[in-house]
Amino acid sequence: MGVNNKYYGEEAHNYDKKKRRVWQAEINAFESFLSLIRKSRQRKIDVLDMPCGTGRWIPQLDAITKNYTGVDISKDMLSEAKKKTETINFPSVFIEKGWFEYLPNAEREFDLVICTRFLGYWRKKNVQKIIRLLASTSNQYLILQVRVNESPLQGFLENLFVISGGLEAVRKLKKNGRLTMSHLRKTFLSSLKQERFIVKQKIIVNTKRHSSCEYWLAERLQERGGQKGTHSF
Ligand SMILES: C[S@@+](CC[C@H](N)C(=O)[O-])C[C@H]1O[C@@H](n2cnc3c(N)ncnc32)[C@H](O)[C@@H]1O
Repeated sequence: MGVNNKYYGEEAHNYDKKKRRVWQAEINAFESFLSLIRKSRQRKIDVLDMPCGTGRWIPQLDAITKNYTGVDISKDMLSEAKKKTETINFPSVFIEKGWFEYLPNAEREFDLVICTRFLGYWRKKNVQKIIRLLASTSNQYLILQVRVNESPLQGFLENLFVISGGLEAVRKLKKNGRLTMSHLRKTFLSSLKQERFIVKQKIIVNTKRHSSCEYWLAERLQERGGQKGTHSF
């Protein structure tokens, strides 16, 4: 079962309950990026979360957000996300679409674009395409979760294992286990650079023998003419 059709029914319903080991480290990284953004911007921002899944970042975004858009291919994940909007103070829109359908139509519409727990499911070509589309959708910031492999040989072997069906085998061995693909740092960096983004801050949330799972806050190099206007905090 692939990422496109996995997150339905019970899987969607139980997603938040799984309490993955690194969940708290991810929240800490995310909050630290939000406080940086808050310091550098005096105004509330438009946020795109793609894929938003169960909307795990919605509570964290409350103080900083003007409008929130959550995109996901799974209606069941979206209906979990909608429940989280009952306690927040910003308007939200949820769109049931795949990234390939939604992203090409959203040029620079958002101040912050978030993409977590997603890139590791895709091969290099798609990762490059997703990052470039996410970046072109953002007017200023990107928060990405990336799984970086520092060793080209190890990365190649590991990804070969995943592509050749290792994922299913590992799943059977390890309850709730998930093996996702790692990519070379330059794959992420070159895609960002093509869209004129630089990595402003990076936080390692988990390390394995040859790879690390990192949160990156990337920022668009500003062009003359400034940013689009937003409301004050
Ligand atoms: C591991 S979850 C991550 C959700 C959320 N970003 C998070 O950090 O918890 C992966 C999500 O990707 C969604 N998804 C899978 N394929 C997709 C696609 N082609 N386009 C958009 N969303 C997709 C799934 O429905 C699921 O909600």
